[in-house]
Amino acid sequence: MSRYDYLGFGLGLRPKHYDRILETLPTEIDWFEIISEDYMVDGGNQHHYLFKIREHYPIVMHGVSLSIGSCDPLDFQYLEKLKALADRLQPPWISDHFCWTGVNGNNLHDLMPLPYTEEALDHVVDRIKQVQDFLGRRILLENPSSYVTYTETSMSEPDFIRETAERADCLLLLDVNNVYVSSFNHNFDPIDYLNKIPVDRVQQFHMAGHLNLKTHIIDTHDHPIIQDVWDLFSVAAKRFGKVSAMIERDDNIPPLEELIDELNTMKKIAYEAWGENSNHLHAEEVAA
Ligand SMILES: [Fe+2]
Repeated sequence: MSRYDYLGFGLGLRPKHYDRILETLPTEIDWFEIISEDYMVDGGNQHHYLFKIREHYPIVMHGVSLSIGSCDPLDFQYLEKLKALADRLQPPWISDHFCWTGVNGNNLHDLMPLPYTEEALDHVVDRIKQVQDFLGRRILLENPSSYVTYTETSMSEPDFIRETAERADCLLLLDVNNVYVSSFNHNFDPIDYLNKIPVDRVQQFHMAGHLNLKTHIIDTHDHPIIQDVWDLFSVAAKRFGKVSAMIERDDNIPPLEELIDELNTMKKIAYEAWGENSNHLHAEEVAA
């Protein structure tokens, strides 16, 4: 088993930044991640910009509608559209979440956590294999942020994720902020969590800001990344090594330059963790 190629440091592609990206073609950004569903309808402005930007940067696809844990049948109409977009865009990889988003045909428009049981494990493994067969490639699945647990749950989240990844032979997207958010909400040690995730399965990191309401944290992606999450990122960078990393910002979106500053902070921490020169600004320079 080998991971896909290392891409360096990326940002979520958001319409607010389309023009600025094309005007300035910032070299600090190595790649972009899109929300797959935003580009599933052909044509229009979104597609125009997507393929213009694709001429300059690799673009990976990150979905929110696979609903890998649902008891509804897999949605092959959705998968057809996902595959069609992937055929055009040729993304280095495709990801979604360990979650369910609805049942009995209803969409909750939210990423709901799974009960971590043997039954759910069998169910999710079987469905990942079907999706990977259909797409003709391995997918990445992301650890969720959560606010509730189930009384039926019989194993920890990282144990569930590790076992699923091994049995389905899929890769992982490790959201470091989600680990932090869930560790606060459910009172577990985030470093123990990281230590249970298999190193050779992690293909990508997510980093993001959140909203701390003191009794619980909400994963809002509308603030800068806090120091505690940077600290956890440093631990993750040391444990998992050279993994492509990006910042998700979905609300209260600042000018592109502000996110590039945050990306430069990420690079500095990553290079320190990897024992490399932090003056490097590009993935290619580091790889050279
Ligand atoms: Fe994420």
